[in-house]
Amino acid sequence: MEPVLQIKHLSIDFTRYERGTKRRRLTVIRDLSLEIYPGQVVAVAGASGSGKSLLAHSILDILPHNSHVEGEILYDGTLLTPERIERLRGSEIVLVPQGVSYLDPLMKVGTQLRKGKKDPGTKERYRIALNRYGLGEETEELYPFELSGGMARRVMIASASAESPRLIIADEPTPGLDAGTAGRILGHFRELADEGAGILFITHDLELASEVADRVVVFYAGETIEEARAEDFADVACLRHPYTKALWYAMPKHGFKPVQGSQPYPGQLRSGCHFAGQCETCREECLERETIPLRPYDGGRVRCLYPKEEGQV
Ligand SMILES: Nc1ncnc2c1ncn2[C@@H]1O[C@H](COP(=O)(O)OP(=O)(O)OP(=O)(O)O)[C@@H](O)[C@H]1O
Ligand SMILES: [Mg+2]
Repeated sequence: MEPVLQIKHLSIDFTRYERGTKRRRLTVIRDLSLEIYPGQVVAVAGASGSGKSLLAHSILDILPHNSHVEGEILYDGTLLTPERIERLRGSEIVLVPQGVSYLDPLMKVGTQLRKGKKDPGTKERYRIALNRYGLGEETEELYPFELSGGMARRVMIASASAESPRLIIADEPTPGLDAGTAGRILGHFRELADEGAGILFITHDLELASEVADRVVVFYAGETIEEARAEDFADVACLRHPYTKALWYAMPKHGFKPVQGSQPYPGQLRSGCHFAGQCETCREECLERETIPLRPYDGGRVRCLYPKEEGQV
């Protein structure tokens, strides 16, 4: 089976101007590779500012113009060119955006969902989609400000699912929702995957990621530092990278132990392991190497010279 989405060595950088004239290139995502097969939910988990939304926007080709992208993105085995994504965006490939502000505040829900189409087929399709998420016909007559946060999220998911997409990119779809509502929304994504779609689920919540996804990709300072199976999170000894282990101990159910220190900003990165400043098992060799490669390890991938070391945290 062909992956529905395949990202190969993706890097994203920005040109920024400092003090008016000095041009500086800032790499935000470095050498990112991932695959999503039909029926799979793949979570990308990372702290705020680690490049998760940029990853989503690069797939959809909606990055700001001061950005520069390298690497390849394949959809269904074929290169996703700007012309192709333009055609597929909103139908086969959909985004559930991070903010509900993507809804037009001046347009009723029904009208904006149908994007101006008035034929009975389209109306019926959206009525069914809304209904699936517990939203009645009356929702179509509401303006976005009349929706609760959870309803607005469900409207966006209904909108995404109505077109029978093959790839859904959900950028932080459950912020600020109570566990029950978040769980139901994530259950909807699982259902869409079971119907054959590939789901890229972006979140800062590793616990949520490991509960809903089949595979979890952990981001640190713009790089993948680990790719794990969801079941690896059942036991910290199965996790490969010291950062993932530290995040595991930071989960409420594992003692809420905060991760010490903070991630370096894109402009501050030096050679060697980027996690070195926060790693309790860092060795000289980790700093001396120019780069630390991401490599297959024990059924997943890891960017660490000494994975699964005891003593971290
Ligand atoms: N247009 C831009 N120009 C320069 N830098 C940018 C631009 N857009 C984003 N960035 C930088 O890229 C980094 C990643 O941003 P991104 O929005 O992808 O983070 P994120 O992981 O989605 O964070 P969050 O969890 O808060 O949504 C940030 O450091 C941000 O400052
Ligand atoms: Mg984001």
